[in-house]
Amino acid sequence: MGQTRLDNMDSTTSLDGRNGHVGELAKIGILVASDRAHSKEYEDEGGPAILGFLKEAIASPIEVHYRCIPDQQNIIEETLVELADSTGCHVVVTTGGTGPAIRDVTPEATKNVCERMMPGFGEQMRAISLAFTPTAILSRQTAGIRGSCLIFNLPGRPKAIRETIDEIWKAVPYCVDLIQGPYIDMDDEICNAFRPKTVRRR
Ligand code: MTE
Repeated sequence: MGQTRLDNMDSTTSLDGRNGHVGELAKIGILVASDRAHSKEYEDEGGPAILGFLKEAIASPIEVHYRCIPDQQNIIEETLVELADSTGCHVVVTTGGTGPAIRDVTPEATKNVCERMMPGFGEQMRAISLAFTPTAILSRQTAGIRGSCLIFNLPGRPKAIRETIDEIWKAVPYCVDLIQGPYIDMDDEICNAFRPKTVRRR
């Protein structure tokens, strides 16, 4: 696969479903919380890493909405609300701002905008990440549901993104089913998501 570039803060990427997919269009938000990526001190690599996974792993059509914003709680909250309520995202993946540093406020913003928390996502990611680094426990990452949108936090390092998203996404399509979102059809070779037999379409 070619390298993915997302230079524009408001960029939208649409991908057709693959031949034979059995799903529906899913809108997915990527929210990068990073002072330095936002100020262009460095180029964001987190957004492209998440988009790379989505492109590889999802067989049904997706529309991806990308936002790169500073580590500022009110801006993170406003952007999460905009992506969930106005843009109509079914899933929003954040990256960055989950650690203990004073500017790390992504989990607080996530908690403030969600009606119900899904602590299993954070627990599972920390467990997975411990196999890679003992500092996994420094991530306060969490997840929750706002309306019919699942929001979850990934750590900021691009390496950490692929260490975690490939594994936890196995629970995402069924979660989206349960909150009455679109049927997300996966490429089983890349991400073998779980669904009970009774709701599987293939
Ligand atoms: N998880 C994985 N899989 N790989 C990593 O390298 N880094 C840890 C942790 N989780 C890491 C990880 C570190 S060093 C920190 S400080 C926290 O994530 C928080 O990172 P963030 O503030 O960029 O979100």
